[in-house]
Amino acid sequence: MTTSADRARPPETLSPPCAYDRADWDSAFCNVETELTAVAVTAQRGTLPPELQGTLYRNGPGRLERGGRWVHHPFDGDGMVTALRFEAGTARLTNRFVRTQGWLEEEAAGRMLYRGVFGTQKPGGPLANLFDLRLKNIANTHVVRLGDQLLALWEASSPHALDPDTLETKGLTLLDGVLSPGEAFSAHPRFDPGHHGEERMVTFGVKSGPRSTIRLMEFATTGPQAGQLLSQRSDSFNGFAFLHDFAITPNWAVFLQNAVAFNPLPFVLGQKGAAQCLASKPGGQAQFWLIPRDSGAYAGQPPRIVPAPQGFVFHHLNAWELDKAGPDGFGGQVEGPALVVESIYYADFPSIGPDTDFRTIDFNLIPEGLLERCTIDLSSNTVRTERLSERCCEFAMVNPRREGLNCRYAWMAVAERETGNDPLQAFKKLDLISGERRVWSAAPRGFVSEPVMVPRPEGSAEDDGWVLGQVWNGARGATDLVILDAASMEELALLELPLAIPYGLHGSFVAS
Ligand code: CO
Repeated sequence: MTTSADRARPPETLSPPCAYDRADWDSAFCNVETELTAVAVTAQRGTLPPELQGTLYRNGPGRLERGGRWVHHPFDGDGMVTALRFEAGTARLTNRFVRTQGWLEEEAAGRMLYRGVFGTQKPGGPLANLFDLRLKNIANTHVVRLGDQLLALWEASSPHALDPDTLETKGLTLLDGVLSPGEAFSAHPRFDPGHHGEERMVTFGVKSGPRSTIRLMEFATTGPQAGQLLSQRSDSFNGFAFLHDFAITPNWAVFLQNAVAFNPLPFVLGQKGAAQCLASKPGGQAQFWLIPRDSGAYAGQPPRIVPAPQGFVFHHLNAWELDKAGPDGFGGQVEGPALVVESIYYADFPSIGPDTDFRTIDFNLIPEGLLERCTIDLSSNTVRTERLSERCCEFAMVNPRREGLNCRYAWMAVAERETGNDPLQAFKKLDLISGERRVWSAAPRGFVSEPVMVPRPEGSAEDDGWVLGQVWNGARGATDLVILDAASMEELALLELPLAIPYGLHGSFVAS
């Protein structure tokens, strides 16, 4: 494993093509076999920074096979949450499956009883799946703290409430009556660090159809009001909406409506999962849907719709505002107020068809994610786009204290190669102004998940803090946790966790 400031090196000397062993990558597709309770974990390399105090929560699919049958796509795996608690230079690990109704039923039956959104079918072929439109809420996408509850999120239905210490599942929650039963609640809340005073959680639910409605909600996260709904609004837009993520600024909630079409027939007929019925809409036009936040300068105004560039986006890095006409700071000019949105673009919607085994996918045949910046000129309704990096990336974030503001630095998971599509094997810090980058790599035998940037409590510099990243260690057949210095990307500590966890989705850090 190496740390490098790789900017000066020509790409061809950085790594040979495909610097990984397919069997190492594949070995992460497993079931989590144990549930641990506050097990002490020590650093195999380096030492834990004593100032790092709090809990890293992570969520992701923990069960990929049942009764000899595999999920069609890892995203259909049951949610398993880990909590790694750092205190005075020590770490303790707890993990639990979320006791969803579907998980409990399938545990008891010893076989799959539900279809999955990403194409997992019940045994018995299309006939056994015909007209079975039940959704199994698998609670596997994200885990966040809201008030005194820990929420395991899955965007198509209600959150599950967990005990923040023991991870015991308390059950589905409607957040004190804010949500209706079964109402969609995004797995991508954004945490406003105090754009309008107190910190908040801003999130949404989307009801999709020929006309789609977005419900935007803002919750208090601190003080006696923590967990309470502060404001909400609902806005409807033409067309089927597929919205996994969004971004916030002090004045706007930013949605990117990809140009996708949804044909539910193969889902209804038991041939495909619902998400496999999404496809790029030939000649379709992506749109930014900009919804004014209730505390911002445009509160109460209708949303704005702006044509967006081609491509498909799951995740945004960040968004921020330029408040007046002039240079945009990266070589262009804006005519008036502008919104800058940084997102990971794919050339097309990446889907795994019904006949493909996810463990055999050819990375060369699917598009890679590339970080791009869109500057939306709000006076002319035009967008200028630029590529920020040519390196395949996913799971990007800024310093959470600067969410929604102009940031210089971003941290993300990247492929080992400079170009082309490969599994994610390294963590990268990118200077969004100079283009300078620093990389910590787990290649050739390690594969990374989402990095979480944690600011140092007393720090003020934007890159003062740590990056916590989960790494699948192919040599050990288990999961490591690496702690990097967020500024230099040098390794401070590496913990070999006593768990084998499949590639995860999202997580968050709660300081203590
Ligand atoms: Co996501």
